[in-house]
Amino acid sequence: MRRKVIAGNWKMNNNLSESQNLITKLISGLSNEKLNSDVVICPPFTSLSEASSLAKNTVIKLGAQNMYFEENGAFTGEISAEMLKSVGCEYVILGHSERRIIFGELDQLINKKIKKALQSGLKPIFCVGETLEERESGVTEEVIKRQVTEGLKEISANEMDRIIVAYEPVWAIGTGKTATPQQAEEVHAFIRNLVLNLYSSSVAEKLVIQYGGSVKPDNAAELLSQNDIDGALVGGACLKADSFISIIKSA
Ligand code: PGA
Repeated sequence: MRRKVIAGNWKMNNNLSESQNLITKLISGLSNEKLNSDVVICPPFTSLSEASSLAKNTVIKLGAQNMYFEENGAFTGEISAEMLKSVGCEYVILGHSERRIIFGELDQLINKKIKKALQSGLKPIFCVGETLEERESGVTEEVIKRQVTEGLKEISANEMDRIIVAYEPVWAIGTGKTATPQQAEEVHAFIRNLVLNLYSSSVAEKLVIQYGGSVKPDNAAELLSQNDIDGALVGGACLKADSFISIIKSA
């Protein structure tokens, strides 16, 4: 049985005091709950250190939303894996579609970041997903295959233990349009099969594949009940403690 992982991607939201507020509410809402899933929050860089202190000794684990693959040096505006580790991050989201589309990140760059994250002991949440145009022109599987294969290049079977893949159809992100559980399950099973072909059945069976794209309290349970859906990467609905907690409880 794969343990589910519910992660909240805060994106560019919440200043320091808003972050403190949200984390405090999450901690009190989740204490005394027996959870069937791991819980990760990914606040902006400016709140990570404080989030780490607040979440210490609670069920909440910490992730970042991005990083650069170099160790240090003249990379203005970038953050390294070591810096994330030093403020208590365990996870890092890589290859999110907003990074790909708005900031022009390509598969090769994402692959370098995944490798560096793994080397540094971080767990990548590696995002893949097709655009509406790609889905409508029938190339979803082709796109996912390219993103998965290029993103996982030169990553060993052992390292796969520490990777989460998040399937996030771009047309479902922040749009209120969720993939139906069947549509999502189809792509999740496709990804698991790809990983089986790239590695082995045991690597594929252990791989946690999250769904992301307008996950909300009212659709989470059905999505999370699918065979190959092992968690959620939640954007909008993780910004309110009540709705994120309700998603966590539906796992
Ligand atoms: P959403 O975002 O839940 O607001 O659609 C998900 C994501 O981008 O990770």
